[in-house]
Amino acid sequence: MLIDRFNRRIDYLRISVTDKCDLRCTYCIPQGFTEFEKPANWLSFADIERVAGAFARMGVSRFRLTGGEPLLRKNLPELVARLAALPGVEDLSLTTNGTQLKHFAHDLRNAGLNRLNVSLDSLRRECVQEISGKDSFDKVIDSLQVARDAGFERIKINMVPLPGVNTGDIEDMVAFCIANGFILRLIEVMPMGVSGRKLEYFNLLELIENLRPKYQLHESQRVYGGGPAKYWESVDGRFTLGLITPRSQHFCATCNRVRMSVDGTLYLCLGQEQSMALKPLLLADCSEAQLEDAIQRAVDLKPEKHEFNEQPDKIVRIMAKTGG
Ligand code: GTP
Ligand code: 5AD
Ligand code: SF4
Repeated sequence: MLIDRFNRRIDYLRISVTDKCDLRCTYCIPQGFTEFEKPANWLSFADIERVAGAFARMGVSRFRLTGGEPLLRKNLPELVARLAALPGVEDLSLTTNGTQLKHFAHDLRNAGLNRLNVSLDSLRRECVQEISGKDSFDKVIDSLQVARDAGFERIKINMVPLPGVNTGDIEDMVAFCIANGFILRLIEVMPMGVSGRKLEYFNLLELIENLRPKYQLHESQRVYGGGPAKYWESVDGRFTLGLITPRSQHFCATCNRVRMSVDGTLYLCLGQEQSMALKPLLLADCSEAQLEDAIQRAVDLKPEKHEFNEQPDKIVRIMAKTGG
């Protein structure tokens, strides 16, 4: 079992399969950013499978593929199938911006993907364009329909409310999620790298006090996935809302995850620098025991918490590097 210095059990690995993205969300990738990882430095599917296998042997059962935009990586369903077949992999999920999803949803489902989280910040086309830099709205909406038809249930919609930009769209998004059976997740923006640093966050603890009476929400005891969201449900059971509150109420004490970037570096916290490069070991054809030892040593570096509130100007990686 993987336990860190603060007695937190690590059971969730987020694997970034590319740092590239076809969008430029203001809070994620800075405009004009070009320093993406060279393909020569990417881990191969075989290496990713090997690392995931080591984590699985160490008791990690949840795996999520992220990016950048993971569907830009060629043959992603093949990787899904390989990971789904690993002993110990119980929950295999994907976070996507949805622009390409309609082309892959059926193959991903058939390959063994269990769950999908899709980013969508507004139901107004021009607002989506303002935030993401591209007119991607129709593609995402089509993709959501295709993904449902492919058999994905309880898809999560990730929305980052930005004051003065899309906070007025939350209630329309609630209605959209109720009508389609999606779980809505609101995320407080984090100051990641240069992007997101100057963005004011929208306090979700304050928002919930307003939404509660209107939708008759009560705190849910159910857990939908392995992430840090706290869930609320309407009394009629038709609406589920997840709040991710890294700014107003951080959840680091129960953090259960580590991340691997496309070049095979383990990052131990979204908002901190600690890391461990696994690529040199993989290139040197290390033994399974050496790989597991490196993973445990990396987990031993996991810091207690992020410091987004204390040091909002501190530069860490851009979000697309570690995949949210
Ligand atoms: P499930 O609960 O398993 O469905 O997934 P998830 O919520 O962990 O995954 P998703 O990729 O949808 O994450 C949503 C967002 O939550 C991320 O993009 C981050 O913005 C935020 N988040 C996820 N994990 C962490 C974390 O460990 N720390 C912080 N500060 N934010 C996180
Ligand atoms: N703060 C909070 N969430 C972010 N995401 C990207 N950048 C940030 C940020 N700075 C989220 C997006 C997407 C996921 C991949 O990461 O909402 O759902
Ligand atoms: Fe791309 Fe997702 Fe980052 Fe937007 S949040 S730029 S969709 S990786």
